[in-house]
Amino acid sequence: MSVIIKSKDQIASMRESGQLLAKLHQELHAAIRPGISTLEIDELGEKLIEQMGAVPNCKGYEGFPACVCISVNEEVVHGIPSKDKILQEGDIVTFDTGLIYKGWHSDAARTWGVGEISPEKARLIEVTRQSFFEGIKKARAGNHLYDISLEVDKYVTGFGYGIVHELTGHGIGQSIHEEPNVPNYRQIRRGMKLREGMTICVEPMITMGNRRVDWLDDGWTVVTVDGLPAAHYENTIAITDGEPEILTMLDGE
Ligand code: MF3
Ligand code: CO
Repeated sequence: MSVIIKSKDQIASMRESGQLLAKLHQELHAAIRPGISTLEIDELGEKLIEQMGAVPNCKGYEGFPACVCISVNEEVVHGIPSKDKILQEGDIVTFDTGLIYKGWHSDAARTWGVGEISPEKARLIEVTRQSFFEGIKKARAGNHLYDISLEVDKYVTGFGYGIVHELTGHGIGQSIHEEPNVPNYRQIRRGMKLREGMTICVEPMITMGNRRVDWLDDGWTVVTVDGLPAAHYENTIAITDGEPEILTMLDGE
């Protein structure tokens, strides 16, 4: 197993997949309201992915039962949608989802507020999002993989937040998870050299308190041990001969 470099044509296909996913996230965001269940959001996601002529890449992945991982407040990632899980004013909610279009995967996550949220939660969401952008400043051919990790770590640690270690970003292409892993915290070495044509998901998972996480008995949902909220922000990006291209964001987003 090793890193799979994509041609410009292949990246163009991944861009199509990524742009559909970005639109899906826009629609999921628009559906948020106090009183909606996470299952209703997942059903909307499933319908939209089908309408796009795409295939969900979460559903059935190692048995995951839904199209959108929906994680609320102290849930970090991989929350299972449920009719009994109702979004409330003041919650924060993470949608982590992806799709396959013409054989090419895309993967992205966003955390949003439900109605009015506390300034503390708003700041957590914003710092998590910004940590992605800080990290990808280093995502250039000739730099090294863990330069991204270090940059995310330095930025997030400055706010006193925790960085989840147990889960990482990953390569992506015709499979959802390819080499390499992309950690969000400082590594001892600089890692492999980044090359044009690498396609990776950078996805900081950040906690308001300490970084310790646990798994619920459902075998999926990752939660903070201290019960404080967490946020997640992820895009699929391509390494180019210049700035990285963010495949899962719309122009002007
Ligand atoms: N978006 C997930 C990830 O990056 C991929 C699917 S995991 C599943 O790990 F929980 F949805 F199955
Ligand atoms: Co991912």
